[in-house]
Amino acid sequence: MILAIETSCDDTCAAVVTADGAIRANAIASQGLLHERYGGVVPEIASRRHLELIDVIVADALESAGVGFDAISKVAVTQGPGLIGALLVGLSSAKALAAARELPLVPVDHLHGHVVAPTLEPDPIEPPYVCLVASGGHTFVARVDDPRSYAVLGETLDDAAGEAFDKGARILGLGYPGGPAIDRLAREGDPEAFDFPRSLPSGHSAAGLDFSFSGLKTSLLYRVRDLGEAETERRRADLAASYQAAIVASLVARLGQAIGQQAVRNVALGGGVAANSALRAAAGELCQELGVRLWIPPHELCTDNAAMIAAAARFGDPLEYPRYLDLDAAARLV
Ligand code: KG4
Ligand code: ZN
Repeated sequence: MILAIETSCDDTCAAVVTADGAIRANAIASQGLLHERYGGVVPEIASRRHLELIDVIVADALESAGVGFDAISKVAVTQGPGLIGALLVGLSSAKALAAARELPLVPVDHLHGHVVAPTLEPDPIEPPYVCLVASGGHTFVARVDDPRSYAVLGETLDDAAGEAFDKGARILGLGYPGGPAIDRLAREGDPEAFDFPRSLPSGHSAAGLDFSFSGLKTSLLYRVRDLGEAETERRRADLAASYQAAIVASLVARLGQAIGQQAVRNVALGGGVAANSALRAAAGELCQELGVRLWIPPHELCTDNAAMIAAAARFGDPLEYPRYLDLDAAARLV
């Protein structure tokens, strides 16, 4: 069994997963409330909180799985990308836990985790597939032929989709994180009330499937300024619905292009934005139209979690003790 640890941003996570991908425990301590008053994640606060929580969360995962350390055959941990101080807490704990028992350690690319989360039981996706990952930190579309790796077909050139939701929510005076707030409010609004730009940049990726969301946010800012306070208040639901529609349209347009271009039959969504009801509906319609099957893993496997890190570790190369002791975390993986 694999014990996996993930601390790349503001969630302290540990999971126990079997070698064939069955989740025995997926423990998450979200720090969301701690960062809410700052309107975003404060890296130093996140690292300190990881430090306080990591041992508890690992113990919690083992207890929920009903296993002791004897049942663990390897330890997996997120090496990057992410907040460097946050990553270091998880990596140091993983090294210590593995070294104490002379177990192998598998360093994992966080994004690889998101991409292979749908390979977990009980309904594992079969490659080849295309996966759209949209979260607060990253937005990209990838192709998977073999779950040991993935090819990025396009990625955001500026803000991530979740960041666009969060910044939009702030402009509209909604709370943090903004995605769920916009999602809720948008249900009462008209998605065609305002015309926001749907940016599909030519970008630099070979497949031409990059994203851009920073212009959209600026456009909302100007619209709110032009409307004035009272009118913005009155039209808030329409603004939220139209703004959300623009983000979803860009994501789904690229997903559709990727499916056509790559000629795959299987498609997956991942990242926190996969919780968005408009995105789920639009991706569902698109896949039905194209006659392909769509996997949207449960919410706890879409947002940051350690089960997905274990999923990726099943396909990674373990480092034997003590070779991993000088391993470093990486804010960016090249
Ligand atoms: O994957 P995640 O939990 O953390 C990382 O950023 O890695 O994603 C969090 C992001 C936030 O930006 C949040 O606003 C967005 O996912 N999000 C949503 C929804 N739920 C969460 N965005 C749109 N609609 C939602 N329902
Ligand atoms: Zn993530």
